[in-house]
Amino acid sequence: MDTVAVINQKGGVGKTTTTVNLGVALAELGKSVLLIDLDPQANLGTHLGVDVIDGKTIYDVFVHDVKLKDVIRETAEPGVAVVPSNLDLSAAEMELVSMVGRETLLRDALEALDNGSPGHYDVVLLDCPPSLGVLTINALSASSKVLVPLQAEFFALQGMAKLTEIISLVQRRLNPEVELTGIVACKVDRRTKLTHEVLDEVRRVLGDRLLETVIRPNVKLAEAPSHGQSVLSYAPDSNGAADYRRLAREWAGVPLEADPPAAAGRQTKKAAKKAAKKAVEQQADAAES
Ligand SMILES: Nc1ncnc2c1ncn2[C@@H]1O[C@H](COP(=O)(O)OP(=O)(O)OP(=O)(O)O)[C@@H](O)[C@H]1O
Ligand SMILES: [Mg+2]
Repeated sequence: MDTVAVINQKGGVGKTTTTVNLGVALAELGKSVLLIDLDPQANLGTHLGVDVIDGKTIYDVFVHDVKLKDVIRETAEPGVAVVPSNLDLSAAEMELVSMVGRETLLRDALEALDNGSPGHYDVVLLDCPPSLGVLTINALSASSKVLVPLQAEFFALQGMAKLTEIISLVQRRLNPEVELTGIVACKVDRRTKLTHEVLDEVRRVLGDRLLETVIRPNVKLAEAPSHGQSVLSYAPDSNGAADYRRLAREWAGVPLEADPPAAAGRQTKKAAKKAAKKAVEQQADAAES
């Protein structure tokens, strides 16, 4: 089980959009995916059409010791399950203040899921709130990888120093395995000079952790949540779907040269799925030989 914290304490940069669409794109590559909402705004569950008002949520796992397997919901996206949150979670920070081991509650819950549940997940993506409080620390304690969505704007790097400091602190005190693995630039308009300047600066400071794939601004990405769907289901031929499919291949280590030629965004969902599966098989063959 590969657990990935999707983090940026800046609001509105694309964390939830990336969690949903990368998750669904990884499922298209044949992975079994679990998405967990750690944000009281509850955008993740809503994005996937899950009722976040009724039923148990991640809050019950943190505060009432409910097992993670009992709060997992299936979604309409094949191979993707979700653990929703709701507004109750905003109280968790205070309610957990006096609890011993509060920074590792999520790690313990995921370990119990991995050991005890018949359902197996290849990838778990954790959608974090725009803050560096106890919920984000729980995500870092439970993860081996960190993915930072970042908006290519003047203030993009502001806050990155604090974030890398927190990751190092968690590495030293709670989870030696956790590492900043990737930065994905979102809402990137390649036509502007500012975009290029910002991305050059990110590359200078954070090196090759800046992923090659960038996510372009695409209105379908903003529309999809109101339909309770990922962009891959809502608008399979959009640039948004193409970018997240490409991101999934890069993240999963599938060679990007294996991309179907030219406009990946113009192909049908079925063709894209077939091409992605083929690329994974080719990679597996290459690894064996
Ligand atoms: N590439 C994109 N093109 C157009 N709109 C986008 C793109 N990525 C995200 N958005 C929109 O921008 C808004 C913020 O995105 P999102 O909710 O993913 O950010 P977030 O980092 O999760 O925010 P928060 O910090 O509040 O949790 C949403 O309305 C989303 O639909
Ligand atoms: Mg969000």
